[in-house]
Amino acid sequence: MPQIKIAPSILSANKKALNEEIRRIESYADIIHVDVMDGKFVEPITFPIEDVRKLKTRLPLEAHLMVDEPENKWIEDYIDSGCSSIIIHQEATKNIDDAIALIKKKGAKAAISIKPATSLKTILQYLKKLDMVLIMSVNPGYAGQRFMPEIIQKIKELRKIDNNIDIGVDGGMNVDTVKEVVMAGANVVVAASTIFNAKDSVKAIMELRRVLMECVNKIKV
Ligand code: DX5
Ligand code: ZN
Repeated sequence: MPQIKIAPSILSANKKALNEEIRRIESYADIIHVDVMDGKFVEPITFPIEDVRKLKTRLPLEAHLMVDEPENKWIEDYIDSGCSSIIIHQEATKNIDDAIALIKKKGAKAAISIKPATSLKTILQYLKKLDMVLIMSVNPGYAGQRFMPEIIQKIKELRKIDNNIDIGVDGGMNVDTVKEVVMAGANVVVAASTIFNAKDSVKAIMELRRVLMECVNKIKV
């Protein structure tokens, strides 16, 4: 199983003090997850490139593009604004091959995300070209939703097919649900409200890491 990574999503961070929020947690995290929403693929609109350009962190920035037709400028814009990984949605475009090629051409890591209702089969053909598959465990759009346990099966199946690929899970991650997804084979945990809505974001992320390491040790035995 690949290395465990925690990717705090700044969707639940204080928008007026994003860099302070990031600075506080960055020594405890692996990636900063930026949820980009276009008002079409999902209702809200979040994190325009002007905001992303202002982010200061030594961690890699990952753009989760919840947008229609990401190959139409979004991919280029977010890589040019400092994101070194791009996650597109299977449901958002008919040109997945072109979108992945564009991400790679620009030198970024490529990932595909699937909504809870989307089958794993729809992305298997792209697996070889991907750095990560992000399995949504809520319907994308908002932080603070309840984890959907029915997605566990997809994690198990994907881990059986590919032992090395990063498998991320996004939505409703907390100290209980991370156990379920990591025991099923996931290794990247995206979490917004559990970290940034906690009284102490550092404590929250350390607690997540502690639980994750416990699971890794169990898997090893
Ligand atoms: C959902 C976003 C997630 C979201 C997770 O549309 O893609 O990254 O911020 O929020 P929590 O961790 O609160 O479920
Ligand atoms: Zn996300």
